[in-house]
Amino acid sequence: MVLHSVCTERSVESIKTKEDFWAFADSARLEAEYGAKSYVEVLQFAPRQVLIDILHEYRFFIQYFISDLGILMFKAPFGKFKCIVAEIAADELGDSPDKTHLKLWDNFLTSLGDPSDTLEESRFPENLEVLQRLSGRMWERPFMYGVGLRGMGAECLCQVYLTAAYKKLRMNPVIIENEKNIDWLFWDIHTGEEDITHSEQIKAAINELLDDDPSGLQDLVAGYCEAKEVWDNFWSNLQSRFTQEPVA
Ligand SMILES: [Fe+2]
Repeated sequence: MVLHSVCTERSVESIKTKEDFWAFADSARLEAEYGAKSYVEVLQFAPRQVLIDILHEYRFFIQYFISDLGILMFKAPFGKFKCIVAEIAADELGDSPDKTHLKLWDNFLTSLGDPSDTLEESRFPENLEVLQRLSGRMWERPFMYGVGLRGMGAECLCQVYLTAAYKKLRMNPVIIENEKNIDWLFWDIHTGEEDITHSEQIKAAINELLDDDPSGLQDLVAGYCEAKEVWDNFWSNLQSRFTQEPVA
């Protein structure tokens, strides 16, 4: 599926104020919702092994996301944004290794039947390269680019994809049949109120950054557009790789 992208050169150039940016982010989110629905469609009818193969790769997204938050926190000036990123990273890590969101995801995977001894092996290293490239950008690009890429792009858009994935997953006959044996804790946390609260706090913190330094706006937009592209690619890659149905 080819989506009309909100990230065209013309639309990006027309963003001059933080209000323009949030209006643009709302359109991008709507577009992501539309795209997400089609990319996660496969989860509704996929047999168990395909479900496992697709969801297995998402663990690496969580892994890299948490580490990238550390880079973002390091680069942020002292202020609201630095604090909220630290808070999100602390939430992601929990207060012990068995409570990290990565571990919660792994618990979900193993409850689905993914063998625990191969959790750390990617079955789709191409997507791993995408994530490594993202981390590289976090160091190389200006701080506000990283804010767009990881500070709000992933936080706000990952919620879109997770919510869409969750809806399809709960309709899958394999899941319905095994519902009681599945560890849902990760999903309970990520499809509820917590992430919505985070998104609102981040918006306020980004506004503060833009008030302090309006020149960061174009980097923010560019980073956000890349985040959106990465999410689309990440899920469409998985869909086509594990279902042999290329996204047209
Ligand atoms: Fe999380």
